[in-house]
Amino acid sequence: MNTRETLKIENGQLIIGGVSAVELREKFGTPLYVLDESYIREVSRAFVSGLKEGYGEGEIAVAYASKALCNTAVLKITSSEGLYTDVVSGGELFTALKAGVEPSKIIMHGNNKTDSELKMALENEIGYIVVDSFCEIERLNKFASEASKKPTVLLRVNPLVTAHTHEAVQTAKADSKFGIVIGDEAEKAIKIMVDAENLEFMGIHCHIGSQIFDYSAYESSVATMTEFVKRLSDDGIEIKVLNMGGGFGVFYAGDDPMFTPRRYAHTVKNLAIIVAKALSEYGLKKPMLIIEPGRAIVGEAGVTLYSVGTIKDLGVRKYIAVDGGMFDNPRFALYQSEYSAIIANKANEPLSDNVSICGKCCESGDLIGVDIKLQKAELDDIVAVFTTGAYNYSMASNYNLNAVPPMVLVKDGKADYIVKPQTFEDMIRNNCFASWQK
Ligand SMILES: Cc1ncc(COP(=O)(O)O)c(C=O)c1O
Repeated sequence: MNTRETLKIENGQLIIGGVSAVELREKFGTPLYVLDESYIREVSRAFVSGLKEGYGEGEIAVAYASKALCNTAVLKITSSEGLYTDVVSGGELFTALKAGVEPSKIIMHGNNKTDSELKMALENEIGYIVVDSFCEIERLNKFASEASKKPTVLLRVNPLVTAHTHEAVQTAKADSKFGIVIGDEAEKAIKIMVDAENLEFMGIHCHIGSQIFDYSAYESSVATMTEFVKRLSDDGIEIKVLNMGGGFGVFYAGDDPMFTPRRYAHTVKNLAIIVAKALSEYGLKKPMLIIEPGRAIVGEAGVTLYSVGTIKDLGVRKYIAVDGGMFDNPRFALYQSEYSAIIANKANEPLSDNVSICGKCCESGDLIGVDIKLQKAELDDIVAVFTTGAYNYSMASNYNLNAVPPMVLVKDGKADYIVKPQTFEDMIRNNCFASWQK
């Protein structure tokens, strides 16, 4: 647990945003996603100020990668902090527009955007469409021409940098479905975009992976990307936007580094400094520099509260079964990700047990984590699992027809829904009978 003013233990009770976990359960029940507004704001500000400081007079933007947690209230917070919004689907774009995000501050990604997603982006005149393939250039140019639009576009390039992170979240390997490999292929694509009548080519984007702590991977991608900017400049193509993607790691458990807003500011300041230095060595003007953190903005702001329903000590392993599981947090099932947790209502007691926290789904792999150090749990205790703000709600499902838990925002001792409870009716809303069944 990475404690802070808005996530702390007082008199043996876990307090988030000034509200105790016990009060939150009393008022909203469990399972419950809890999100700390102040922390989202603090981290957002740190990214903006760090990047600004490092890039000097150059223009910058921090785009929140909304795939981490896409919700109108969250996007209202991030956009009010001046962040752009990165979306990867029509659904995320719709949410951003509903949240009141300025279309010019929306960036759309995706390796296989559908026709309707591209048309929706054009119709709403969003800031940037990040083109991912040769065939997309053609489609987008055609749709833009039909709609009499000229969208500002970036090209996602694959800089072939292997980030030291889980294989499933590496995105810049030679064998990757994302982007076009940097060099001849990418330049060919860019030339087509520059010549396309209905596209306004603005620059390049890369994203090397997620949950990255090894900053030499960023250094390599800066070196590769800026060298490419220089090559393009030599060939008469100006890069006005350089988007270096996201991937900044957060603390989950064990040996993960502990991050603070200050440390994020420092990290992105250094990133901006090396970008600026490389550009100046090549004698190039500074393009607008964009980064796209997702996990780092909301990850540690989130805590999930569960109630303990069953305890089984098998001798070989002790299972603490909670009223959630892979339907609200599938990350263990997907990547064996680790978490830290406490018993929120007896947080001062020693972490004397070594347990597996399992869910209530009909899968043996339905685990929140294994070998978690925890206070001695009893039935009805509250288990708080930390760092669940990113890629939990956004990856949740109705598996076994469990309802996706509601989410509450906490701030200065107040708590309120930002995702209302899902009812059984909600879950079967789109069920219907085939004509011959009626
Ligand atoms: C293009 C792009 N940008 C940003 C991100 C955000 O990554 P993270 O949440 O690790 O910061 C992702 C994640 O998949 C991505 O694909």
